[in-house]
Amino acid sequence: MNSAETSTGSVADYRAAVRANYVADEATVIRELIASLRLSLAERKAIAAAGAKVVERVRAETSPSMMESFLAEYGLSTDEGVGLMCLAEALLRVPDAETIDDLIQDKIEPSNWGAHLGNSASPLINASTWALMLTGKVLDDDPTKPAAALRSLIRRVGEPVVRTAVAQSMKLLGKQFVLGQTINEGLRNARELEGEGYTYSYDMLGEAARTDADAIRYHQAYATAITAIAKQSKGDVRSSPGISVKLSALHPRYEYTHRAAVMAELVPRAIELAQQAAAAKIGFNIDAEEQDRLDLSLDVIEALLSEPSLSGWDGLGIVVQAYGKRAAAVIETLYALSRQHDRKIMVRLVKGAYWDTEVKLAQELGVANFPVFTRKINTDVSYMACAQMLLDRRDRIYPQFATHNAHTCAAVLALAGDDLDSFEFQRLHGMGESLHSIVRASHGAHCRIYAPVGAHRDLLAYLVRRLLENGANSSFVNQVVDESIPPESITRDPVVEVEAHGDAIANPAIRLPLELFAPQRRNSKGYRINEPASIIPLLEAREQFADHVWRAGPMLAGSPEPRGEMHQVKSPADANRVVAEVWDATKEEVAQALDAAQQGFEEWSAWPVAERAALLRRVSDLYEDNVAELTAITSREAGKMVLDGIAEVREAVDFLRYYADEAERLEDESPGGPCGVFVCISPWNFPLAIFSGQIAAALAAGNAVLAKPAEQTSVIAARAVALMREAGLPEAALQLLPGDGPTV
Ligand code: FAD
Ligand code: 2OP
Repeated sequence: MNSAETSTGSVADYRAAVRANYVADEATVIRELIASLRLSLAERKAIAAAGAKVVERVRAETSPSMMESFLAEYGLSTDEGVGLMCLAEALLRVPDAETIDDLIQDKIEPSNWGAHLGNSASPLINASTWALMLTGKVLDDDPTKPAAALRSLIRRVGEPVVRTAVAQSMKLLGKQFVLGQTINEGLRNARELEGEGYTYSYDMLGEAARTDADAIRYHQAYATAITAIAKQSKGDVRSSPGISVKLSALHPRYEYTHRAAVMAELVPRAIELAQQAAAAKIGFNIDAEEQDRLDLSLDVIEALLSEPSLSGWDGLGIVVQAYGKRAAAVIETLYALSRQHDRKIMVRLVKGAYWDTEVKLAQELGVANFPVFTRKINTDVSYMACAQMLLDRRDRIYPQFATHNAHTCAAVLALAGDDLDSFEFQRLHGMGESLHSIVRASHGAHCRIYAPVGAHRDLLAYLVRRLLENGANSSFVNQVVDESIPPESITRDPVVEVEAHGDAIANPAIRLPLELFAPQRRNSKGYRINEPASIIPLLEAREQFADHVWRAGPMLAGSPEPRGEMHQVKSPADANRVVAEVWDATKEEVAQALDAAQQGFEEWSAWPVAERAALLRRVSDLYEDNVAELTAITSREAGKMVLDGIAEVREAVDFLRYYADEAERLEDESPGGPCGVFVCISPWNFPLAIFSGQIAAALAAGNAVLAKPAEQTSVIAARAVALMREAGLPEAALQLLPGDGPTV
């Protein structure tokens, strides 16, 4: 991956690498990236020293911004800071005033806002502290505190006041990051710094459209903005202002599982906007969003790069996130695409704004590994290696280095050499002002400002990312305002830092998804339905069950042939398709099961608890091994989507493992031992999870079970019982009695 000469693979090769590496081993990737770096130790030391000098100057020359002061006051390590973060994030989704009030009460009332008042030199911080404090006071219910009567009066008159106060403090924060509420206001506000030589990329707020109406509204906002920006074009994409778009704003289903709709509907919208930008000779940049969108974004980008009407225009910009394990493969893909279609492109290198989301989501999904690095210094190393890759490919790529980190800027300058026109730096509006003004003054490199424009109602998602970025104590912007941290330790060489961790390159403090519940139970194995390498094998394995006709009936001790009437089960999605032949239990079969159950109980309850637990764990593994068939049944019999089918199997697996653990843990605390025979009646809406959970709880404790599934979902129940028996469960310990309620 080192230099452009080694980039001889095809687009297909590199796309395959992007897919295959979605859960790459972190240490392997980082070692490869370090090996690719051509900077010597001495050069890296010089970079660290240069960065430290800039930190000193930033500290000496500037007073902290409103945001920096706010976060110094309300860091993520205070209750108030966390409360505010939660509130901002949650307000996004709250539709009605009443719920907003409940939320405010929950998040604001317990916090100690008054302690912050007057601590900050900034009047704005004190203003928002007042706003928050007012809220806290208004909601304070403790009658023993002074002026409680007055506060309760205020509360009676003014719940909207509370809401207004919170909205006001959010607005103060928002103002820091938004250049204007309309594009024309933004363009006007940009003039001052344009006069100093900065350029802009405008971002119309709004993302993750939920409806097509939203997507059309955002599309229109982009089109209007491009028309306005076009008037400022200088006829060359590098010196002209440009626009940054989020593809998730342009389609409500910008997801791999809706790829066909995205290609048919989103791509034409993106092409239309790109044509507008190309005609004006301005840049059109596609922001990078969540890692789950990466593969699909490459399809869209490929469509834009191969679009004949856009040939000859060098203004298509693509963002690469260095925190992604696949960043280098993405750069190779983009370079191969630009060669294949004979285009020049712009690539903005960022570290990545969705780190917390990526880590939590991977853990929740139970996938094998994270798509992003788990140590910040690993991301820093990746950024340097990716910067080198981009600079090596300047024949086709105009690199745009977006960072607010003095070390990272110094590294880019050291790697870039003398041609200062061949790349640019970028910063966000409201951040990194002094850093970039120092770098521009000392080196004369170009700098573009990413400037959000729009109404405050569309700001919150963006604002939360900025709060997280500024509030994290590992962030450069957080450390640079903390005078207690020496400049040299802020700009330490990340390669040396990585090496100091020895073999622990991945962060051991961040649990891998499958270890989320360690040391207790293994997390259930999951899939990323928007990641082709994860989901395609499962979809293919389900194919063999597409027309399968299952047979299900009573499962009694001794496995006699069913005696009742057979009826066919049809798919809820298509009444013409037969899913299964099902025999309901007869009264005689129910009686026979009841007789056998007592003997089943005696046999099963004699198993030591460790063996019962081991059996349940074997069943959980069998469920995972049979996920294709089980999810095929949940789709065809119960009408569940693949995503819900996976969740169903995972919940069942987790129940099995959980009850196995609990049985062992509680063994000594239940002197009475198992009770006898349990009847488990389960519903159709969670036909595997609840069915398995009830049974597992009873079996774990040594009881025998007669299971009656909902009559709509007998097939999945029969398959589950078969797997339990395959794991070694005695037949009489669990018997299945499908059929209607009155009979069974
Ligand atoms: P630093 O403080 O050096 O780095 C902070 C970053 O390190 C975090 O944001 C995260 O990426 C990474 N990090 C933190 N903790 C860990 C950890 N434990 N393990 C691994 N990595 C970690 N972001 C996007 O995602 N898409 C975009 O399209 C995009 N566009 C941008 C455009 C501009 C002009 C700018 C300036 C930023 C843009 N960003 C975008 C946001 C960008 O990702 C963040 O500003 C950037 O990550 C901060 O990096 P830094 O070098 O300034 O700061
Ligand atoms: C974000 O929206 C700047 O694209 C980046 O967080």
